[in-house]
Amino acid sequence: MTERKSFGEELEAADERGIERTTSPSLATLWQRRVARRDFLKGMGKAALLASASSAVLSLAACDDAPQARPDAIFGFEEVPRGIDETHHVAADHDAQVLVRWGDAVLKDAPAFDVANQSAQSQLAQFGYNNDFIGFVPLPEGSQASDRGLLCVHHEYTNDDLMHAGLPDGAAPAQIAAFFTREVVEISMAAHGGSIVEVARDADGKWRVVQDSEYNRRLTPLSTAMSFSGPAAGHERLQTNEDPTGLMVMGTFNNCAGGITPWGTWLMSEENFNFYFMGENADPRETANHERMGVPGSRSYPWGHYHKRFDLSQEPREPNRFGWVVEVDPLDPASTPVKHTALGRFKHEGCENAVTKDGRIAVYMGDDQAFEYLYKFVSADKMSDDRAKNMTLLEKGTLYVARFEEDGSGKWMPLVHGENGLDETNGFASQADVVIEARRAADLLGATPLDRPEDVTPNDATGHVYVALTNSKEREKTDAVNPRATNLWGQIVELTPEGGDHGADNFSWTLLVKCGDPLFPAIGAEWNPETTRDQWFACPDNMAVDPTGRLWVATDQGSGWKTATGFADGLYALATQGDKRGIARRIFRAPVGAEVCGPCFTPDGTTLFLAVQHPGADGTKNYKGFERASTFADPATRWPDFDEGMPPRPSILAITAKKGGPVGG
Ligand code: FEO
Ligand code: CA
Ligand code: CA
Repeated sequence: MTERKSFGEELEAADERGIERTTSPSLATLWQRRVARRDFLKGMGKAALLASASSAVLSLAACDDAPQARPDAIFGFEEVPRGIDETHHVAADHDAQVLVRWGDAVLKDAPAFDVANQSAQSQLAQFGYNNDFIGFVPLPEGSQASDRGLLCVHHEYTNDDLMHAGLPDGAAPAQIAAFFTREVVEISMAAHGGSIVEVARDADGKWRVVQDSEYNRRLTPLSTAMSFSGPAAGHERLQTNEDPTGLMVMGTFNNCAGGITPWGTWLMSEENFNFYFMGENADPRETANHERMGVPGSRSYPWGHYHKRFDLSQEPREPNRFGWVVEVDPLDPASTPVKHTALGRFKHEGCENAVTKDGRIAVYMGDDQAFEYLYKFVSADKMSDDRAKNMTLLEKGTLYVARFEEDGSGKWMPLVHGENGLDETNGFASQADVVIEARRAADLLGATPLDRPEDVTPNDATGHVYVALTNSKEREKTDAVNPRATNLWGQIVELTPEGGDHGADNFSWTLLVKCGDPLFPAIGAEWNPETTRDQWFACPDNMAVDPTGRLWVATDQGSGWKTATGFADGLYALATQGDKRGIARRIFRAPVGAEVCGPCFTPDGTTLFLAVQHPGADGTKNYKGFERASTFADPATRWPDFDEGMPPRPSILAITAKKGGPVGG
């Protein structure tokens, strides 16, 4: 059974370990391989590379077996028609295998899933709920293997009413209070966070979980101690009764999208952390800060009844310990994850990253709320062959926020204490204050409020960076980058860093598509003129670039937003180059009530891992068009098991082409 150490024991154990990490010379070459591939994909070709690259990069490029660049290739799969029903649909020339579901075993000693007798102890050893981000770290360490690796998966939140019997639709407050026992709350906590799961592809082409893997791990807000790095680590505003050092924190939650670094670590974002706090704030110095972050939240997670750190009347600074980016080493199951405060505190959607021309790491980050901002962090130091040193790169660097000009130009403005009014006169006594209240610092610099920035995805093959602005029903005043009021559909922005350098202060930008139904002029959608009734979508959220440089977009219309399209969420290929630019094609359609998350390709592009999150949950309109709420007893779908008595289960799928080769043709 999973060992649950006390906070003190975790602190002691972490102290003993320090931040010592394993060094892997072979893995440190990963980023060089990535740089080599990027240059190769840009069309330099091997000859140009021979003339310009360092010997280390050169040798890798020469033996690089990565797929060839074809970002403008036409997608070659049989499109899934739009619609909505109880199950998923994948292109007819592809297969979708259910690989791992909520409740499946992760740790060696995990008990079999028994939905009627679930416990927090069982859940701590099993796959969590609401899978979102998926990262793939190939095994063996440092390889580009596409048949064995570690899936690093976020479990963003729980739908407790669908996980347990006893909470009918429209329950009275007393019923709700009785439902949330300590055990139910701790199952919820144990189902949050993340999972590391080794997976392997057998000779028959099927994927399986390697359950006895030493790498398998659960990270949760109930069981996993984490440390802080950077300007706010140890600061008074991070100190609590439980942790007077301000250096350690128990766990992470509401992890949405994320990223994998070139050195093979996993970046976990912390998004809507405000939902988990309750009570009256006891520290007047934090009042404005908490209001800006929406703390306390809607009290949908009554964790504070049993764990006082979520009660603001007792621990008013605990919310300052969430809203960060966490770095996890999936290759060392005993390692202590680190929250890097240099990357700022806000509602982090994701943290995809890219390499600057001089070898530093740039991390792109959206703050997913209406009228919030786009951020970029650039490390102070360059990457090297020393993996342990690379794991300190996110401790020091510059956090920037974006300003979009009407003429298609833009700039990254540094959030640095002492500059541009970020000083005591405006309540910023140090860089710790700047990162803790990054939103307020960005306000002062005149950053551009956006229509809910979700995933931000650099494309190494083209040098562009794609930003999904998912929607904003609150917008009244429009501008060039947020061109529609009451925007139910969202848009995708294409950034081009100046000089092709992710470290540059300036960029240009344009809109790739304005989403929504192009047949209704009042919606103001903009797609390629050849777009048909099946080739459009709304509410872009997670994105991925496949190994050949093609863009893929997953949608999340959210609860009650089914009317944005009238059909289920899905995964779309979206052409960005040539005369097909702006045409989308649906390769996957989710079951009713689900959003699609975490698209993630193996290095050779032959497998696409995809997360189906909260199946049945957003069932405000079912496929027959009726208003429909889901409950444990009567869910809108029982996907993927379709067993009476088994509720819907968020799951990861492995998608492959029937004839082999790259997913998407
Ligand atoms: Fe968790 Fe912004 O979606
Ligand atoms: Ca998301
Ligand atoms: Ca989402």
